[in-house]
Amino acid sequence: MTMLPFDDRDGSIWYNGEIIPWRDAKVHILSHGLHYGSSVFEGERSYNGRIFKRQEHHERLISSGKLLGFDIPYTIDELHLAAQEVMDANGIVDGYLRPVAWRGSEMMAVSAQKSRIHVAIAAWEWPSYFSPEDRLKGIRLDFAEWRRPDPSTAPVHSKAAGLYMIATLSKHAAEAKGYNDALMLDYRGQIAEATGANVFLVQDGKIHTPTPDCFLDGITRRTIIDLAKQKGYEVIERAIMPEELSNTQEVFLTGTAVEVTPVSEIGNYKFTPGDITKDLLLAYDELVRQPTA
Ligand SMILES: Cc1ncc(COP(=O)(O)O)c(C=O)c1O
Repeated sequence: MTMLPFDDRDGSIWYNGEIIPWRDAKVHILSHGLHYGSSVFEGERSYNGRIFKRQEHHERLISSGKLLGFDIPYTIDELHLAAQEVMDANGIVDGYLRPVAWRGSEMMAVSAQKSRIHVAIAAWEWPSYFSPEDRLKGIRLDFAEWRRPDPSTAPVHSKAAGLYMIATLSKHAAEAKGYNDALMLDYRGQIAEATGANVFLVQDGKIHTPTPDCFLDGITRRTIIDLAKQKGYEVIERAIMPEELSNTQEVFLTGTAVEVTPVSEIGNYKFTPGDITKDLLLAYDELVRQPTA
């Protein structure tokens, strides 16, 4: 399958307040964001023409910037309008949006106090392709060698580009061994998350998920916790060691991109996606398409 490169497509991108042709949305090579990792981003999905949880996503974009020491020069309402504009310009109904903000080129050194903050939003068609039956087969994860860092060594609650360096390394290593993704432990050896999604375990009918003290407290994660509680499940947020996977019956990932994705294997541990995973997968699919969600 040939892939259409992301810099050579038809369409339009919202760039610093304007809608411009897709291929013109470029950055200069002497950009602080490129050299020093001063970049934050979001991943959003639209369903039936509406961005699910757009308020939460745009709040997080602004807060991610603040955690890297910069103010995004747009309000949440302006970001909502910009996202809508780019969806309209590209005729997106079921799609993915990628807002990104980064420090520009005014200063080319570690210090970048006076650099301009650029913001862009791209959007493209991306329906959820797989039927619940196909998704329930589950994906295979390997254990990553890289660990999520201690909160005192990195701004771990920012959706900062630099934090994805170890995610890409981990995902590539897993893919090279034939796995779909990697499960990352944290600096203490506790289960943290996958490379771009949070993780949930089902043990004896109860739902357990790691406390998000050194990784992203995903918007989907919070949505699933609410949905699960509404359905009467007990949800326990706590430190979870990998050995506990031996008394775990179901595992699933949550995230904007992966939605609810069942897991069938992690290293040598095997799971059968079951009733609780299915119940939440279907409830999430229904919720994201509700006009009032
Ligand atoms: C590292 C990481 N963890 C968790 C998530 C899940 O976050 P959300 O549900 O807000 O998409 C994502 C996706 O954004 C991610 O990249």
